[in-house]
Amino acid sequence: MIYPIVGFGHPTLRKTAQPIDKDYPGLEQLVSDMFETMYAADGVGLAAPQIDLSIRVVVIGFRPYDEKTDTYGDVSEEHVLINPEIIEYRGEKKYFNEGCLSIPDIHEDVLRPEAVVVRYNDIDFNEHTEEFTGMLARVAQHEIDHLDGKVFTDRLSNLRRTMLHRRLADIAAGRVATRYRMKQYKRK
Ligand code: NI
Repeated sequence: MIYPIVGFGHPTLRKTAQPIDKDYPGLEQLVSDMFETMYAADGVGLAAPQIDLSIRVVVIGFRPYDEKTDTYGDVSEEHVLINPEIIEYRGEKKYFNEGCLSIPDIHEDVLRPEAVVVRYNDIDFNEHTEEFTGMLARVAQHEIDHLDGKVFTDRLSNLRRTMLHRRLADIAAGRVATRYRMKQYKRK
């Protein structure tokens, strides 16, 4: 099932999402639906708050890039992070051009550490502690921000945010066209 994606301005994107335990009902179906939703919208990562569920579940999927041959693999590398926590930042901070399915048409360079150590549970609730580098480190940081009520535009300079203010207000008001279905917050 493909879920509509919650847009910037929706209060669920600003909540701190709750951890889940292994008895969370329908987790396997949910994760499968999250991958389907993400791929249908051409995303590389999706956090549960983006489908209006305030729980700490993230899916990530992208084709691996080989720097040596400058080519992308055919099969997507997929990750499911349940209750993820960044326990260490490593390496230098780097800029990378980010976008977000909840913030259509806006792409900005965001400064983040190039590697992170993440502790998380897999879908069977086995605990893992792993170093993420490259694209995975970038997407994981972006998605874990969503679990803490943050979006990537929060990490821009005041000047950049001021320049984007009008476009963000348009997205919050639902004045944005997307190929995928969005769920807008209806103010009373
Ligand atoms: Ni995002």
